[in-house]
Amino acid sequence: MLQSMKISGGTPLVGTIEISGAKNLALPALAASLLTDGNLSLHRVPNLEDVKSMLRLLVHLGVDMGDLMAGTIILTANGLKTLDAGYDFVRKMRGSILVLGPLVARFRKAAVSLPGGCAIGARGVDLHLKALEHMGASITIENGYINASAPNGLIGCDIILPIPTVTGTENILMAATLAKGITRIINAAMEPEVAALADLLIKMGAKITGHGSSIVTIDGVDSLSGTDFTILPDRIEAGTYAIAAALTNGKLLLKNCKYDHLAALFDALHLAGVTHQVHREAGNEYEDIEVWRNIEIINPVSIQTTPFPGFATDLQAQFMTLMTICNGTAAITENIFENRFMHVPELSRMGANISIHGKTAIVTGQPFLRGTNVMATDLRASVSLVLAGLTAHGETIVNRLYHIDRGYENIDQKLRTCGANIERFTV
Ligand code: EPZ
Repeated sequence: MLQSMKISGGTPLVGTIEISGAKNLALPALAASLLTDGNLSLHRVPNLEDVKSMLRLLVHLGVDMGDLMAGTIILTANGLKTLDAGYDFVRKMRGSILVLGPLVARFRKAAVSLPGGCAIGARGVDLHLKALEHMGASITIENGYINASAPNGLIGCDIILPIPTVTGTENILMAATLAKGITRIINAAMEPEVAALADLLIKMGAKITGHGSSIVTIDGVDSLSGTDFTILPDRIEAGTYAIAAALTNGKLLLKNCKYDHLAALFDALHLAGVTHQVHREAGNEYEDIEVWRNIEIINPVSIQTTPFPGFATDLQAQFMTLMTICNGTAAITENIFENRFMHVPELSRMGANISIHGKTAIVTGQPFLRGTNVMATDLRASVSLVLAGLTAHGETIVNRLYHIDRGYENIDQKLRTCGANIERFTV
């Protein structure tokens, strides 16, 4: 059954939002369960469609697991039923490619469907495959399947990435933990989720240094053990709600996040006329961040998306929504994906003035947006339409909510508790 969301805009969001565990760490952390026959207990796992898709895939492979209860799940990959991650699983969620590295590293064989493209771009996995071949795996692609095998195990080596691919780095990182010898990933992704995955692997017994920087060194070990691990807060969820506070001229307290994971966003928001205050408690690794607009009309701010620690591509659509009501013209350049402006036609139908010139969208601010029927396409484009509905005059209906439920836990409840006039209904 398809679900839609009805939003009546104009109410400033005021209140507190608890940030959930990060989707883009939960996915590789769940895949890491394949690397050990021990029990892997994960906490603060967000209850999201993408997480459920990964859990279904791991069950299909033969991983034993309890239910996801209050964010905690225990997984045990004692022996598997199959090493085949079928198309049905992978097409639903690209992150399924993250089982490839662990399966080849521990079981020396894997058959994983090539992930289909997706709305935002081709999203190849050629770099994942080249790296595994470099480590001694033989890889063939037949009938849309990646067939990988390394009968003598993987061998550590230098892997130089032409682009700092996030899941590519994560796949190589996991594979290298059980390879023979030293692997160095050069031009590794530095996203906090990648560094946190390395922290998990180290707790499991892996020998990793340099994680969080662009050169990561892994000294392979014979086996890994189970452990307990808590997923870090979702910086993209936190950034999305920070923008919502600015858009609606409200004031939100975002609980359990980390300023350093969002420095580029808060720098852009500061230029736009948005203030934030970080509240730190002694002994707490994470912080609470209060966000509010300190200016009548938002200033135009141009941004470019780049790998971490630059401006996150996963916040580009949301920031564009903010710029649709600025008092000038802003240029938003998307450097990571080749087709990540799917939200533009829908925002334009709400009265936004946006023109696309190659990788750059030129946004000329309008006094306000008007509510109407809009269609969600991909995860972050969808949430940018919800944000638009929160500030628009009149009523907005966002259709195809399953896109949003892939990456935002309880978004309607979280917004409603802060005053949003929002309800979900089945069409
Ligand atoms: C991860 O995707 C995230 N997903 C994405 O979040 C995020 O947008 C992206 O990193 C960039 O930060 C997860 O972590 C599950 P990439 P990933 O490999 O790893 C090209 C969201 O909304 N490329 O860093 O797939 C690729 O096509 C999602 O939460 C190759 O050409 O991104 C893209 O243009 C969306 N060949 C660019 O590199 C490869 O082998 C960056 O992709 C790998 C990547």
